[in-house]
Amino acid sequence: MSSAPVLTIDGPGGAGKGTISRLVAERLGWHLLDSGALYRLTALAAAKHEVPLDDEDRLAEVARNLDVVFVAEPESTRVLLEGEEATTTIRTEQVGDAASRVAALPAVRQALLQRQHDFRKPPGLVADGRDMGTVVFTEAPLKIFLTASAEERAHRRQRQLQEAGVDASLSSLLKEIQARDARDMQRSVAPLKPADDAITLDTTRLTIPEVVDRLTELLTERGLASAT
Ligand code: DC
Repeated sequence: MSSAPVLTIDGPGGAGKGTISRLVAERLGWHLLDSGALYRLTALAAAKHEVPLDDEDRLAEVARNLDVVFVAEPESTRVLLEGEEATTTIRTEQVGDAASRVAALPAVRQALLQRQHDFRKPPGLVADGRDMGTVVFTEAPLKIFLTASAEERAHRRQRQLQEAGVDASLSSLLKEIQARDARDMQRSVAPLKPADDAITLDTTRLTIPEVVDRLTELLTERGLASAT
């Protein structure tokens, strides 16, 4: 594995990891790993090839053979699965739910490990996920656990959906978030939890620019980035 510096950003869904990771990576000119997208793509590819969500061996095979291309664009990253557009499909609740099921299978997690390590290249990597600091990049020089209250995360998700023209009730979103948290935290393999050496940042009352500034400060303090 390369020795390029890694900033790991773990935490529950909806804590702002995706947006924050992208903005920090852009500011530093570092690479970005959206590890959740790999689990979502595995779930989508499984559906496409009619692999049942309880067939661990075949799901691991799907994960190992994922034919995926990430295309970095100014505001987002386009995702192609087997040459087909998958950018918005992988973000649906249905795929997210299936992703959280396949992510609980040890063979699938093992199958995606090397692919995740391959993202570590100079000048550095921002790795976004659930087990970036605890399993995948245990040697990372800065580990962040980004969190926010479940209520705030449900509000954020509702606003996101509204912007996309989708109406969803706050109570149903809150229930989904709590169910996903429980599954991610209680699974026996790579459960969602802060690494022992992680810094926890609660974003409930912070704006996105405030969080990006705080992370840039921490990187600078540790000599991992120059002051901007
Ligand atoms: O961050 P996300 O919502 O895109 O993640 C989708 C699912 O994948 C989520 O249920 C947790 C799981 N996941 C994981 O188990 N490990 C990771 N490193 C990233 C995501």
